[in-house]
Amino acid sequence: MDWQEIYEQRKMTAEEAIKLIHSGDRVMVAHAVGVPLAITDVLVEHKEDYENVEIVQMVSMGNAKFCEPGTEGHFRLNSLFLGVHSKPAVKEGRGDFTPCCFSEIPGLFDELMPLDVAVIQVSPPDKHGYVSCGVSVDYTLPSAQKAKRVIAQVNKEMPRTWGDTCLHVSEIDCFVEIDHPVLELALPNIGDVERAIGENCAKLIKDGDTLQLGIGAIPDAVLLFLKDKKDLGIHSEMISDGVVELIESGVVTNKRKTLHPGKAVVSFLMGTKRLYDFADDNPAIAMYPVDYVNDPYVIGQNDNLVSINSCVQVDLMGQVASESVGTTQISGIGGQVDFVRGARFSRGGRSIIAIGSTAGKGRISKIVPFLDEGAAVTTSRTDVDYIVTEYGIAHLRGKTLRDRARALIAIAHPDFREELVKAFEDRFHCVY
Ligand code: COA
Repeated sequence: MDWQEIYEQRKMTAEEAIKLIHSGDRVMVAHAVGVPLAITDVLVEHKEDYENVEIVQMVSMGNAKFCEPGTEGHFRLNSLFLGVHSKPAVKEGRGDFTPCCFSEIPGLFDELMPLDVAVIQVSPPDKHGYVSCGVSVDYTLPSAQKAKRVIAQVNKEMPRTWGDTCLHVSEIDCFVEIDHPVLELALPNIGDVERAIGENCAKLIKDGDTLQLGIGAIPDAVLLFLKDKKDLGIHSEMISDGVVELIESGVVTNKRKTLHPGKAVVSFLMGTKRLYDFADDNPAIAMYPVDYVNDPYVIGQNDNLVSINSCVQVDLMGQVASESVGTTQISGIGGQVDFVRGARFSRGGRSIIAIGSTAGKGRISKIVPFLDEGAAVTTSRTDVDYIVTEYGIAHLRGKTLRDRARALIAIAHPDFREELVKAFEDRFHCVY
């Protein structure tokens, strides 16, 4: 049977497709801007047909109706990274959170979390019968290769991306053709604090470095201060619109990369249509599954790899809490630990945790004597390298506990330095 026949035979409505999901199944749903909402929305409309379906997902965008109140007993979210929609579900007991590094997720699907169904979103097939996972390759492509059954929303708006992003139609059990614009993420507001942090981070970036950047105002602010750099490269789990500007202006050339020279290597995209149009059929953007892109040993094959991520609190020893405020889980590990460690393996590598010095409109210091009770340590004091705030740069690696504390107090908000100095003197029995 040729691929066109397979495709035609397996085309169905979302109502028909969800019959491949059974009560008690573990179902992986693609995430971020690749979420197949046209299928998950229909699944939730038919919730009465299902009992105890575990929904595994990383960043929930668009909506996450399967963990809204009223879905209890039908669906249970197992979130690998909390976001706006999944945070209340976990806090209110309708879902769970599984701590894990982004790089290990495809491996979890092999043994510890075998999948019954993968629900993904793809581009239409090309002339050879291959669909592309487009904006979200990360764990989406591997989950489709590992799940017992695969349901794909086929969306003409999904870009076809280069790298290792494709599945053959014969690997997918059913196709639901529904077109809509790929979800977009509004560009963040960059204020004075973010600009100052961005400027400080840029001081640590040299011509020819390869960058990993997270999402949000701080990474975007860093990009503003890179306009005079030369021949930067990208090896990052995700990129947003800011990177497009740097590629178009010739700042990012990927020329000096020691792994995949000439290519920006990423695992998922999250931004506006401008980014998706840029990545569409563009061989300069090479997308791979996250167990490759985020593997610290792969990251480390890039010389001069600089990673930039953020956190909630740092204590005076350099322990970094990035995913919980006390016992309340607010996000996840994502690729932070993968890239902090990958940067360590990289010759000339550096990892940066970049934060505003305060939270809660200036009421709370993010640099603290002790992490809040119950907070999870995301990046340990043995892995941490640079901490950057709007007040400067603290290089912690290779420093004693006292020198770390001194360096961190020097970049804390001035309103909190006095109490931090007191904590320093109580702890170390010496004058600051
Ligand atoms: N004490 C109390 N609350 C705090 C706090 C602190 N020290 N620091 C942050 N918060 C609160 C904020 O007030 C905010 O609350 P709100 O949602 O009610 O407004 C919330 O926590 C998020 O903080 P904010 O600083 O706005 O978040 P952000 O968008 O800059 O993201 C992280 C910061 C740490 C949550 C995010 O970078 C992250 O998830 N990092 C870990 C994973 C990672 O690094 N991944 C790499 C790429 S995936």
